[in-house]
Amino acid sequence: MKCKKLVDVGRRQFLRGGAMAGVGAAATMMTGAQAQAATPGAQMDYPSTKLANIADLAVNEPVDIEFPDPDSPGILIKMGQTVEGGVGPDGDIVAYSVLCPHRGWYMNYNGEDRTLNCPGHFSRFDTEAGGQQVWGHATQNVPQFTLRVDDGGDIYAEGASDLIFGRPSNVL
Ligand code: FES
Repeated sequence: MKCKKLVDVGRRQFLRGGAMAGVGAAATMMTGAQAQAATPGAQMDYPSTKLANIADLAVNEPVDIEFPDPDSPGILIKMGQTVEGGVGPDGDIVAYSVLCPHRGWYMNYNGEDRTLNCPGHFSRFDTEAGGQQVWGHATQNVPQFTLRVDDGGDIYAEGASDLIFGRPSNVL
């Protein structure tokens, strides 16, 4: 009797595993459009937008920006040391959305610990680590904008790492 129960449990777990494998197989059969929707920062046609010139920036003093359109506020910062996603001669210039990925509150930059801080429910994001969440309710990191610097030191935004809050797509 005891042995039969063990066999039944084993069979149920096997069947459950099979069902999960089926779900996994279905997930891998997404179309290209579905896959793009699932990774909103990927393969999008972003406008190349000039944000500032390197000469305009001072270490740890954020400049307000808008990208990819005026309804998407952000900041551009020279961190003073090489950081994740940083561009420029020192690899230290980064840009982020300031809309909290939790519920879209405007976030403030804290120059002391170099985080973006949300006044809504107090989430915090590390601007030296690609916008990684270090505390709070959000379920994703804050979007980091992809930057390029030309030979004249002009800085352009040309992409985003994650979905900007409140949008079905980063480019509307
Ligand atoms: S809106 Fe930012 S933590 Fe909730």
